[in-house]
Amino acid sequence: MAANLRLWLAACAFSAAALLPGSVASAANTSEVNPRGLVLSLSCSSCHGTDGKSVGLIPPINGRSTSYIESAMLAFKSGARYSTVMSRHAKGYTDAEIRLIAEYFGRFSRNK
Ligand code: HEC
Repeated sequence: MAANLRLWLAACAFSAAALLPGSVASAANTSEVNPRGLVLSLSCSSCHGTDGKSVGLIPPINGRSTSYIESAMLAFKSGARYSTVMSRHAKGYTDAEIRLIAEYFGRFSRNK
């Protein structure tokens, strides 16, 4: 189990490194991609889709501003906004990590 986790983390670090040049190239503001924000955002992609472009019932977060995503995540974390899934997920991050994730997805928004 621990070995699998290490392998997964190594794979995440590898794919983040491999993805970074492409992501940087397509980012609106190329100098602001934080690799840690990118790695943290990967866990969101499993439900919200690549770069937050979900295709199913889960709301897309692509196009949402940094401040919208940050305040939604903080509200899920504190319980001010209830969601069975997001409340649990948000509690796993520090406020600083939530900021990095929000900044990562916020790059795709016109409203900063
Ligand atoms: C297990 C699936 C799952 C994962 C993983 C997940 N989400 Fe969600 N997310 C949801 C669902 C389902 C909703 C709708 C919840 C609701 O409104 O009750 C949602 C809602 C949201 C919303 C509110 C969208 C809106 O339109 O107001 C935001 C913001 C959000 N998620 C951000 C994130 C971020 C950032 C991550 C990664 C740290 C993440 N989510 C990971 C399933 C997921």
